[in-house]
Amino acid sequence: MCGIVGYVGHRQAQDVVVEGLRRLEYRGYDSAGIALVDAGTIASDKRAGKLANLEAAIAAEPLPPSTTGIGHTRWATHGAPTDRNAHPHLGQKARVALVHNGIVENYLTLREELERAGHELDSETDTAVAAHVLEQELLECDDLAEAMRRTCRRLEGAFTLVAVDAHDPTTVVAARRNSPLVVGLGEGENFLGSDVAAFIEHTREALELGQDQVVAITADDVVVTDFDGSPATGTRYHVDWDLSAARKDGFDWFMRKEIFEQPRALADALLGRHDGKGQLQLDEVRLSEDDLRTIDKIVVIGCGTANYAGLVAKYAIEHWTRIPCEVELAHEFRYRDPILTRNTLVVAISQSGETADTLMAIRYARRQRAKVLAICNTNGSTIPRESDAVIYTHAGPEIGVASTKGFLTQLVACYLLGLYLAQVRGTKFGDEIAAVVAELDKMPAHVQTLLDRAEEVYALARQHADTRSVLFLGRHAGFPVALEGALKLKELAYIHAEGFAAGELKHGPIALIEEGLPVFCVMPPRGRDQLHDKMASAVQEVRARGARTYALVEEGDDAAAYADEVIRLPKVPTLLQPIVATVPLQLFACELATVMGHDVDQPRNLAKSVTVE
Ligand code: M6R
Repeated sequence: MCGIVGYVGHRQAQDVVVEGLRRLEYRGYDSAGIALVDAGTIASDKRAGKLANLEAAIAAEPLPPSTTGIGHTRWATHGAPTDRNAHPHLGQKARVALVHNGIVENYLTLREELERAGHELDSETDTAVAAHVLEQELLECDDLAEAMRRTCRRLEGAFTLVAVDAHDPTTVVAARRNSPLVVGLGEGENFLGSDVAAFIEHTREALELGQDQVVAITADDVVVTDFDGSPATGTRYHVDWDLSAARKDGFDWFMRKEIFEQPRALADALLGRHDGKGQLQLDEVRLSEDDLRTIDKIVVIGCGTANYAGLVAKYAIEHWTRIPCEVELAHEFRYRDPILTRNTLVVAISQSGETADTLMAIRYARRQRAKVLAICNTNGSTIPRESDAVIYTHAGPEIGVASTKGFLTQLVACYLLGLYLAQVRGTKFGDEIAAVVAELDKMPAHVQTLLDRAEEVYALARQHADTRSVLFLGRHAGFPVALEGALKLKELAYIHAEGFAAGELKHGPIALIEEGLPVFCVMPPRGRDQLHDKMASAVQEVRARGARTYALVEEGDDAAAYADEVIRLPKVPTLLQPIVATVPLQLFACELATVMGHDVDQPRNLAKSVTVE
């Protein structure tokens, strides 16, 4: 959601900025723009639509050479995605150019003030207001960093701002509050980006900024202050992935590449987390064992796919630890006055670590004195930084908007957390924990087996190019898998898809069944309980009403007896089955969206990282 790039150094800023914007395309956007500082003026261009539109415009009417510039991909909030509303926005006298991610909540009040002072704003966006305010301040103090600090003190809401001053071609200034921004540290050049993908081609040294900080970069220097001007420091870190991770490597989509990366991602998520004999060692969980023993309630929060990982976590954590575990959508959490105490552990799951709803929820939880543990994939992101503890999922960069390896590694992290709590609190014997860990270690190979059979699922997907509705059924830990399968189809194929707990069918959803409706059924493994047989009955019931049923079943299940088509899964314990059962559903959605001609990596209206509430 909105991508931001800033550059100052020895290269042509236009090339660096446009390439950076291309690497941020995955975040989702609907217009793009660039501004360069040129001999006392600002040269800029901005276009609605894809980055290619901007590139075509600057190819037709080239911008002047410059080594200082900023760029932006916009995901519309205030004002339609038009050329006029695209960023950068200029101040009244065109001395500053500004790009922005977030929402300025008091923009109407500021706009009225500006208009009373004679300003003419040429766009309905909150960003245009911020640009005019910034320039107003700059004209008073003649120092862009100071003007930025003064501006930030006047703005309410969430924002990352990046600006240039036509009178100072040596500097780019940025600020952040509740929105992402990272500094890339180069040799004789420095960068700004919404995330490291913006500059990974040039440097892997990065500086994480804190909340409410302003940074001024020149070719050789980076100066950080807080909004009042007191010196501040960011946290320096080395990015542990390189450009190859941000390339498709022969795949048609990043999503497909990321699905196929899952065996390695799972192995990385498990690496170093146990001693080989089943003893877990989660060194990065910075909560003491005493703290973990006093927990009397767990609340898992997240949005979208991360929420579904949380639903799976509930089954595992309650079973292994006997600690009551609630799962809640992060955006609902703080509005219902949840009961939290210092003995509550809030587990915040977020691939990006920047989801605004989840971030606001953890801040709320910490104010209530609950302990917060983040499960996150993105180093240097805000949610782990603001949490008491973190388990990184080590999936590597996830570029496709649809979460795939992010989800599977979130599941692993949830399992590891549950087992670790069981170990610390003694609710499972060591050999019981070791047995589950041994099963987890087999997951990369199991997923590889499923990927080797991808063509079977693709063939199935190609038969559904005209399908307008699909249902997914599951029970127990298979229920969140059904929800995830449906979400993947909605966001990629834009078709109606619903996930239901199979037991709920007769309470309403069965009325949706009609002749030929595809219904995917995530079958629980055969176990000591009767779940499998009850689910098989549900499959029969929808089949009897004309549905075409596709059963995802473990090896050895005689599913042909009750379902129309069978997708075989490796035999794994019930609680771990979501890892394997999700993979065919990812492949199905990816292939179906491909045959339908959709942009799989950047589905319409969606952003990878939802940084506004
Ligand atoms: O970065 P996060 O894990 O916090 O993102 C949460 C959701 O926005 C995300 O999972 C979304 O639902 C995905 N597009 C699902 O594929």
